[in-house]
Amino acid sequence: MTIERTFSIVKPDAVERNLIGAIYQRIESAGLKIIAAKMVHLSEDKAKGFYAEHEGKPFYDDLVAFMTSGPVMVQVLEGENAIARYRELMGKTNPEEAACGTLRADYAQSMRLNSVHGSDSPVSAAREIAYFFAEDEICPR
Ligand code: PPS
Repeated sequence: MTIERTFSIVKPDAVERNLIGAIYQRIESAGLKIIAAKMVHLSEDKAKGFYAEHEGKPFYDDLVAFMTSGPVMVQVLEGENAIARYRELMGKTNPEEAACGTLRADYAQSMRLNSVHGSDSPVSAAREIAYFFAEDEICPR
């Protein structure tokens, strides 16, 4: 059994539509624990740093503009194989391709307004968690 941590964002489109509780419910029902959480309104610099690996891609400016357009919830999730399980719960980036019952199939409106983010690997998860949370803000249980 591999207990992992992953990093999750409830994006501005979902916060704006009062979907934080619904998304947290789905995360917890899937057996993942929320062990840290806060609401933040990202600055342009903070968003650019977070998405630095995508700099130069056609969607980069749009993505940064969207992610700074309103507050987001950031979370650390913990559980068995948390990284893959949360990616499965989210569904594909494009909501039209997301499997039925996934967060993006149910809540996302487009590739841009796709409601949630989740780390794609252990290396990304470690970087992303440290980008938003100090160790003493994380409460494993
Ligand atoms: S890639 O190139 O395969 O790594 O890209 P992908 O993993 O599909 O997406 C990386 C992040 O960019 C967001 N994205 C977009 N934002 C705005 N507009 C468009 N067209 C678009 N396409 C992709 C996508 O939601 C990913 O953000 P996160 O926060 O990681 O989900």
